[in-house]
Amino acid sequence: MRFDVITTFPQMFKGPMDESILKRAKNTGKIQIYIHDLRDWTNDKHRITDDYPYGGGPGMVMKVEPVAKAVEQLKRETTGSKVALMTPQGNPFNHTVALELMNLSGMIIICGRYEGVDERIRQNYCDMEISIGDFVLTGGEIPAMAIIDALTRLKPGVLGSDKSTSEESHSCGLLEYPQYTRPADYDGLTVPDVLLSGNHAEITAWRRSQSIERTAIRRPDLLKKSNLSNEELDRIINKYDKP
Ligand SMILES: C[S@@+](CC[C@H](N)C(=O)[O-])C[C@H]1O[C@@H](n2cnc3c(N)ncnc32)[C@H](O)[C@@H]1O
Repeated sequence: MRFDVITTFPQMFKGPMDESILKRAKNTGKIQIYIHDLRDWTNDKHRITDDYPYGGGPGMVMKVEPVAKAVEQLKRETTGSKVALMTPQGNPFNHTVALELMNLSGMIIICGRYEGVDERIRQNYCDMEISIGDFVLTGGEIPAMAIIDALTRLKPGVLGSDKSTSEESHSCGLLEYPQYTRPADYDGLTVPDVLLSGNHAEITAWRRSQSIERTAIRRPDLLKKSNLSNEELDRIINKYDKP
């Protein structure tokens, strides 16, 4: 999958996109990431990408021309890539959205700044608008990185074991069970006996029940969309009376 990111802060991507799993995914050709400086599509001496808002008010607005030109050029250079605007007003990003986007051949991601991007970009140049949560960040770069990271780790073969993603929080509507590693006893803080038992059936059952309990306590809203059996659902409803 190919990611083309349009940003006025290309340096921000150095580091997060060059370490660990993303680095390996790039090196093995599972993904390609191209970071584009929006200023490359300006024509003026000062390479200006923003201007005052019509109608007045605080802050600056990202100009339509450079963004439009960037999108047009990158669409010509990529086949099938979809254009996504990062905005706190967009569709909430979650695991289901990540699974859908993962099937795209590519994404052209527009990172806003200041008061956001000229509305004509949203209306005429974007296939989708994505928000990574109900809060406002200073720019779309961190949302872009979050989306690239989330999609990349879902690609088959990117993580050591594909089980890593299938058992993870949100993959089947449940939060993941608690995890422990050595030592078994740290200053009196011990690991549950079942995990040391070597009995795989019991471990699987314990993990499943922990996942369900955790979800019921922390995110009961998720239970409705989860893959619980009727029996599991009844048990948890009786216990917490609030899914
Ligand atoms: C300060 S924000 C602009 C917010 C805008 N004035 C509003 O009220 O909707 C600047 C840029 O950061 C990005 N951004 C901020 N919060 C975001 C979020 N929760 N999800 C996705 N992008 C976000 C967007 O690209 C946005 O254009």
